[in-house]
Amino acid sequence: MLANNIFGIDLGTNNIKIYSRSDDNIIVEKNMIAIENKNTLFAYGDSAFEMYEKAPGNIHISYPLSNGVIADIKNMETLIHYFIGDMQKGSYKPADFYIAVPTDVTEVEKRAFYDLVKDANVKAKRIMVVEKAVADGLGLDIDVKNSQGVIVVNVGYETTEISILSLGGIVLSRLIKVGGQKFDEAIRAAVRKEFSLIIGGKTAETVKIALRDLEKEKKGAQVFGRDIVTGLPVEREIPTKLVNECLEEHFHTIVDNVKVILERTPPELAADIYRHGIYLTGGASQVSHLAEKLANGTGLKVNIAQDPLASVALGLSKIIKDDNYKSVAYAIEGMGK
Ligand SMILES: Nc1ncnc2c1ncn2[C@@H]1O[C@H](COP(=O)(O)OP(=O)(O)OP(=O)(O)O)[C@@H](O)[C@H]1O
Ligand SMILES: [Mg+2]
Repeated sequence: MLANNIFGIDLGTNNIKIYSRSDDNIIVEKNMIAIENKNTLFAYGDSAFEMYEKAPGNIHISYPLSNGVIADIKNMETLIHYFIGDMQKGSYKPADFYIAVPTDVTEVEKRAFYDLVKDANVKAKRIMVVEKAVADGLGLDIDVKNSQGVIVVNVGYETTEISILSLGGIVLSRLIKVGGQKFDEAIRAAVRKEFSLIIGGKTAETVKIALRDLEKEKKGAQVFGRDIVTGLPVEREIPTKLVNECLEEHFHTIVDNVKVILERTPPELAADIYRHGIYLTGGASQVSHLAEKLANGTGLKVNIAQDPLASVALGLSKIIKDDNYKSVAYAIEGMGK
């Protein structure tokens, strides 16, 4: 590798997405760490997730991010160190970093993303920050710098970020605590209540992801779990109707919050917003019926992302590759230039 590498990082609560300039590729890995006997790294990323809900008591598996912000700095640093180390493939040249950060968090929480890379022992030369929604917009192929009114809704794992963009910046943004995890929990709770059956988080997630196909096939979801009464493992068929009903409440929360943001949007931006419609992205935005609920609830057209999981990282890749977009990235006092 001749030039110094440049990385773009979208730190999600569930998945970490890292773009590497030298590979011109985005990797997606679970943002998870498995620690053995309280202090030894046992596994990270997808392999830590593999063991989740299955590992023995001396292996502690966790997500270092919570609600979009860094909750466990030490483990998050370890993860960044290993992920970036794997992608640097033995190169010891310092690299530049572009990190996507949520808007609706405190300055301290924002700065923590910058400190994270600085302290992860990855030879960072320059660390730049990009508002997540701006990167999202670019990743969704929106002309972010010239549009006067764009609404982006990113439904992730623990959070949904609703943002209004105009002329390359954020006009309004709200981070709400609803996302794929709440959907999974709702499915678990409904199955427990209706079938006296305890299912794991991964099973609930599988049901959620399969929902659209199951509805098409007019089939229920076959799940394995533990019967509350007998304590024994059993298989049950969960009707899609039950799943749809239990998700309803969370869809409402998202639609209501989008409406609140729209109501607060300066009227001069309304024309472009109306013309564009809503841009819907984030892994959990793919859940069956959410897009139509959002369209019905707001009266706006809903544009669905082609690669909802990677849209932020895709936007970062554009900023890294194209100097025209560099102006949307900024330095946090202390290191960038
Ligand atoms: N096809 C699908 N249908 C429904 N949900 C899906 C699908 N694929 C992934 N998901 C959900 O998307 C979520 C992960 O999305 P994403 O990677 O965007 O979140 P994140 O960025 O890690 O979280 P956050 O933005 O809240 O920090 C998970 O809850 C997962 O179950
Ligand atoms: Mg995300």
